[in-house]
Amino acid sequence: MTKRIVFTGGSGKAGRDVIPYLLDRGHDVLNLDLVALDHPGVNTLITDLTDSGQVFNAMSMHFGMDRYEDGKLPEAPDAVVHFAAIPRVMITPDNVTYQTNVISTYNVIEAAMKLGVRKVIIASSETTYGVCFAEGDRDFHAFPLEEDYDVDPLDSYGLSKVCNEKTARAFALRFGADIYALRIGNVISPDDYAKFPAFLADPPSRKRNAWSYIDARDLGQIVDLCLKKDGLGFEVFNATNDTITANEKTVDFLKKYAPNTPITREMGDYEAPLSNRKIREVLGFEEQHDWRKYVK
Ligand SMILES: NC(=O)c1ccc[n+]([C@@H]2O[C@H](COP(=O)([O-])OP(=O)(O)OC[C@H]3O[C@@H](n4cnc5c(N)ncnc54)[C@H](O)[C@@H]3O)[C@@H](O)[C@H]2O)c1
Repeated sequence: MTKRIVFTGGSGKAGRDVIPYLLDRGHDVLNLDLVALDHPGVNTLITDLTDSGQVFNAMSMHFGMDRYEDGKLPEAPDAVVHFAAIPRVMITPDNVTYQTNVISTYNVIEAAMKLGVRKVIIASSETTYGVCFAEGDRDFHAFPLEEDYDVDPLDSYGLSKVCNEKTARAFALRFGADIYALRIGNVISPDDYAKFPAFLADPPSRKRNAWSYIDARDLGQIVDLCLKKDGLGFEVFNATNDTITANEKTVDFLKKYAPNTPITREMGDYEAPLSNRKIREVLGFEEQHDWRKYVK
């Protein structure tokens, strides 16, 4: 079933590929961002999500000028996808990163719940696993990285995402709604495959991303699958592609490049260390964009 979706942060790197994927599946999208998305059929409301009044207001507006024609007043959307954020450390001072991400996520989820929206999908992050923005070389606790990991980031950005998962859980419990948090891996847009030869030539350089990635278009599929899957309450899902960003088999590779980290279950030959087993099994995710298709 197609849905009316309020999408936040859709003008950014991930949104630019995820929104077209959702439009292709027949969904109707309104983008809330500080800058406009240049894509036909999508209106952007310039909205500062750190201001709760703006968030409530934007979520109860028309999706476009054409909706004034039939004289029907706007209704709350069917679902909210919340991607807006300061997307890493070192863009703003640490406190601003934390404050922006935590307050905007609280505002978006609260407004959605109080307006009666029953499905919210939020962007969490690989950084919750604690290595991405660690000071110095830090080891993961164990491989594969799965959703029951004891997340322990050191940095303001990763911490904001852990806090956002807790906010999502609280609201899902209180309102009996579905709120799914996607622990998104390193987002790879189609142009980014040009960087892969350098990644493969220097394996330690990709440790912070757990030698895993998500194609931005496959992220669109994951969001669409989350829109379709109802009744799970609060859930965390890793959002990554199937395989490791290395030519060696996963277990051999990890024993060489992460020798101090235990491997706690049998892993597929080339399974991504930031495992996507849960989205495959629970949501039916089938990747379309294996990096090997684009990297010779
Ligand atoms: N890019 C990655 O590799 C990656 C990895 C893991 C998680 N994520 C998460 O995925 C989401 C999307 O990431 P991205 O790479 O597209 O980031 P991006 O910075 O390219 O896009 C984020 C968008 O949010 C908007 N935004 C920021 N603050 C806002 C505010 N106060 N009000 C309204 N809009 C605001 C920005 O204008 C921007 O268009 C983010 O939540 C990010 O933390 C990204």
